[in-house]
Amino acid sequence: MSEQNTLRWEQDADGIVVLTMDDPSQSANTMNAAYVKSMRAAVDRLVKEKASITGVVITSAKKTFFAGGDLKDLRDVKKEAAKQVFDLGQEIKAQLRTLETFGKPVVAAINGAALGGGLEIALACHRRIIADVKGAQVGLPEVTLGLLPGGGGVVRTVRMLGITDALMKVLLQGQKYRPQEAKELGLVHEVVPSVDALLPAAKAWVKANPNAQQPWDQKGYKIPGGTPSHPAFAANLPAFPANLRKQLKGTNMPAPRAIMAVAVESTQVDVDTAFTIESRYFTELVVGQVAKNMIQAFFFDMQHISSGGGRPKGHPQHTAKKVGVLGAGMMGAGIAYVCAKAGIDVVLKDVSLASAEKGKGYSVKLVEKAVAKGSVTKEKGDALLARITPAEDPAALAGCDLVIEAVFEDVKLKHKVFQEIQGVVAPDAVLASNTSTLPITLLAEGVSRPPDFVGMHFFSPVDKMPLLELIAGKQTSDATLAKAIDIAVQIGKTPIVVNDSRGFFTSRVIGTFLNEAIAMVGEGIAPASIEQAGLQAGYPAAPLQLVDELTLTLPRKIRQETKAAMEAAGQPWVDHGSYAVMDALIDQHGRKGRSTGGGFYDYADGKRTNLWPGLTQHFTKPGHTIPFEDMKERMLFAEAIDTVRCFDEGVLRSVADANVGSILGIGFPPWTGGVVQYINGYEGPTGTGPRGFVQRARQLAERYGKHFLPPASLVAKAERGERLE
Ligand code: NAI
Repeated sequence: MSEQNTLRWEQDADGIVVLTMDDPSQSANTMNAAYVKSMRAAVDRLVKEKASITGVVITSAKKTFFAGGDLKDLRDVKKEAAKQVFDLGQEIKAQLRTLETFGKPVVAAINGAALGGGLEIALACHRRIIADVKGAQVGLPEVTLGLLPGGGGVVRTVRMLGITDALMKVLLQGQKYRPQEAKELGLVHEVVPSVDALLPAAKAWVKANPNAQQPWDQKGYKIPGGTPSHPAFAANLPAFPANLRKQLKGTNMPAPRAIMAVAVESTQVDVDTAFTIESRYFTELVVGQVAKNMIQAFFFDMQHISSGGGRPKGHPQHTAKKVGVLGAGMMGAGIAYVCAKAGIDVVLKDVSLASAEKGKGYSVKLVEKAVAKGSVTKEKGDALLARITPAEDPAALAGCDLVIEAVFEDVKLKHKVFQEIQGVVAPDAVLASNTSTLPITLLAEGVSRPPDFVGMHFFSPVDKMPLLELIAGKQTSDATLAKAIDIAVQIGKTPIVVNDSRGFFTSRVIGTFLNEAIAMVGEGIAPASIEQAGLQAGYPAAPLQLVDELTLTLPRKIRQETKAAMEAAGQPWVDHGSYAVMDALIDQHGRKGRSTGGGFYDYADGKRTNLWPGLTQHFTKPGHTIPFEDMKERMLFAEAIDTVRCFDEGVLRSVADANVGSILGIGFPPWTGGVVQYINGYEGPTGTGPRGFVQRARQLAERYGKHFLPPASLVAKAERGERLE
């Protein structure tokens, strides 16, 4: 396959060469071996036949312009292949450098998405013209996969936009831009209305600009905004570390750091040296574990989910048309908004019309904000709001093909509200509960059609959080599950599917993480260092802060219920080090979390001020500490080990669900690639992969308690040298 030519060469009567990228081996053009070979042949020929050439237009025969690097190759690259990666990067850049300097105007005619390597090819052209068609977008999303643009993307964007804009707006964000936005940002020069308009525009530009040169190859060129050695630039420098901290969220994610380093270093040297610097950093990232983790989770696992990998087969595609949302509180109001935004009619029911209207008020606020920001037109915003009908009377749910319940967390109440509406809604309506803790199987006992009952666990705030955890109860049918997955996609959420259990997957595993942090307080470790360890491990929020947000009383209530249920079933109950701390805070000090004015932290006017000094007084043992790495890994391992148990108990159905669910739902550090990938890609003092993980878990068990002992299923896999798949 790699022998095939991926570039078509056509020269018109005016001497303009149109190079059409069209890889015959796949549906999109990627930076594979065939591309490199074909591009080498093309640039050699351009140089050789230069005298008869007026200019060059690069375009694509595929739906996208160019899809970038081959992510499977990048994920699977071995550490020993570093030299090949470096050499390949240099070759790709040398080709593009020849293209931009061989002496003729070169235009990128961008007919679709040009992301990553695709935009990097275009950046090596003197002019970028993009068609404003569906799917057309440009961007350098490498940072979101733990990589940097290694095809000249860092060096060229910095020289084009200046170091500040390049970093803050493009390289550290990894966003994708539609044609007009890309033009405003300076990533493209011209937008044309259709693909057909591309070639004429490109050829006209070639004819009008026979001596085109890149700005950085022109005499007297200076990097916009200056370089770090320039006084004007120095004034901007203080903002950099602050922004980087925000970007890294306290973790040691290597890609943003590397991108910053290349950006700054590249301004001190000539273009060719800058490319070499870029290739060096790129190679380091590619062979490192973090990029592999992130590619696995954010590309392959997401792809598995979005392509319906967990959807039961053989059921027709389902579209919801009218949804009844029961309970217009915090969650119900948010659910109503996302459904209406997706074009679904919503009946938002609460105990009184006034409460239901208050719930709709939440959507009014969100729409007003979006209109003010310009992200939604007034008409669209009004249409969204018109789709939400507040109601008090259950009869208003007539004809609903979906019901999502979000009333108080109480089994009897939930049973009651379903009884009120089940005779009114469509006879085959999906009946869903947004409970965060109650067993779905138990709730399904309260409806006349348990097979149509499913858990739809949204996360707060509903309009921002991308994950939707779907829970199959014992009687939930495959048809209902397939419908629920379709609905999740319809409202723009990423669905994971788990089987019923206490706390499902997400609430259970996040609880394990928080318990570990609280237990460390009880052991006498300074709370500030526990918080710091959480942030350094890469969690988006410090653990004790998070406990305060969730309240201390809710986990205790769940614990007490679980304990009672387990004891009733004759199962052994083991106390965790966190319980005594929680009980003391609640019972002896009246500290129940943020909503009650104080928890692990103090609050003034609702704002967090400081860690409660009483923690030091009552728990901290002066001078007592444990290695910082242990603190971090106790949290990460607690979650990872509990996840393995979720597989053992049949709660989790796929590794992709676990990885994606842990990152999007409960803030498991993104650099790990998710909670299972963390085990598969483990790198620590005891070795790598599941084997190293098991060794380290045993070490932690010895030091901090049996709950770190690796489950037998994991030990067996590790011994066989297998990964968790
Ligand atoms: P909330 O207290 O803000 O809202 C509950 C709403 O239900 C109130 O507006 C109340 O008036 C209404 N309600 C009570 N009885 C009703 C009835 N008979 N008919 C219609 N409406 C009735 O509670 P929140 O936070 O919205 O939680 C709702 C559900 O979502 C709970 O089951 C909770 O466990 C779950 N959940 C909560 C999350 C959170 O972050 N707060 C996250 C995920 C799930």
